[in-house]
Amino acid sequence: MVYVHTEGGQPEEPRWADGGTYMVNMKIAQNRAAFSSLPDDGTRDTVIGRLKDGTRLDLKGANDDPHEEPSDVPELLPPNAHVRKAGPRGQHDDTEIFRRGLPYADVVNGRVEVGLHFCSFQATAAQFDTVFNDWMLNQLFPQRPDGSIPGIDALMSTATAHGPLVEVRHAGIFFVPPYDQDGLAAALTAAAGPSRRRTGRLAINKVVVSPGNPGKRFERGGFTFEVRDSAGKTTVPNSQFTTQTNGRGVCQADLTVGETYQLVEVSTPRPVEPTEPIIFSMDKPNKHLRVENRIVEPNPGYTV
Ligand code: HEM
Repeated sequence: MVYVHTEGGQPEEPRWADGGTYMVNMKIAQNRAAFSSLPDDGTRDTVIGRLKDGTRLDLKGANDDPHEEPSDVPELLPPNAHVRKAGPRGQHDDTEIFRRGLPYADVVNGRVEVGLHFCSFQATAAQFDTVFNDWMLNQLFPQRPDGSIPGIDALMSTATAHGPLVEVRHAGIFFVPPYDQDGLAAALTAAAGPSRRRTGRLAINKVVVSPGNPGKRFERGGFTFEVRDSAGKTTVPNSQFTTQTNGRGVCQADLTVGETYQLVEVSTPRPVEPTEPIIFSMDKPNKHLRVENRIVEPNPGYTV
């Protein structure tokens, strides 16, 4: 889930990237005056969805050990609590990141500023993009049975008379090359040279868009594809695959380099305009396609 595996979930990456990882780094200032100004500890716990000792609010008394939590969707948590938005569980557990926060203190214009260096590692940028943009900053996620709108992550959106709780100062996404005991140059050149592979894999990123509202995000899991020959008549054995909730899908069939194929979307989990079959050439062993659907309006928002 952290490292690039060109023989596994990231066949589109170059071979030198094998064992590397994508790193997200955000410097986020925490406004202590704003957090303190919230009415009481109960309100502060609701922003996060946990007590200070780590116990999840909906598991108080039932399961006090954060390491032993069930994998069920925490329906009873406030829908905009930070852990509800960032860790929705259930079917969304197929999108994972490895994260740590390191507190910082700076002196800015003669005043002390404190905050968090947020750092996460993941094998694809799609994993972070889904947690941050599809979930935390998406007003419609998680979809509520009563149709109410959960709103953006409370940690990122709560406004007080003393300002917002947090402010992102800097953010970046970087590629961390794989480790080689002989150094960086050795890591990057070890797998260099033209590939002699005769077969390769196909990876796709599913994107669902609303033409009237390009910033809107939708559920991207559950789209099923198969690969057929160039005429679209014969299905390549073992080529059917389904996207994860981060929109990633990898075809497990070995496709012949130099051949032309068709990618066919065989089922969609919700009302979208169907994607026409995509004709593609395996011009290299690490093939990647972006597959876009337009949502049919009116739509049920962010559906699960
Ligand atoms: C100043 C900013 C932030 C603060 C103070 C903060 C604080 C917290 C706290 C207290 C928890 C619960 C304890 C834990 O699981 O470690 C948590 C969980 C989490 N946070 Fe943050 N966080 C911040 C920013 C972010 C950002 C930018 C992301 C972006 C991906 C993020 C993703 C997560 C995730 C995935 C969890 C685990 C949720 C779960 O599955 O229980 N956080 N955060």
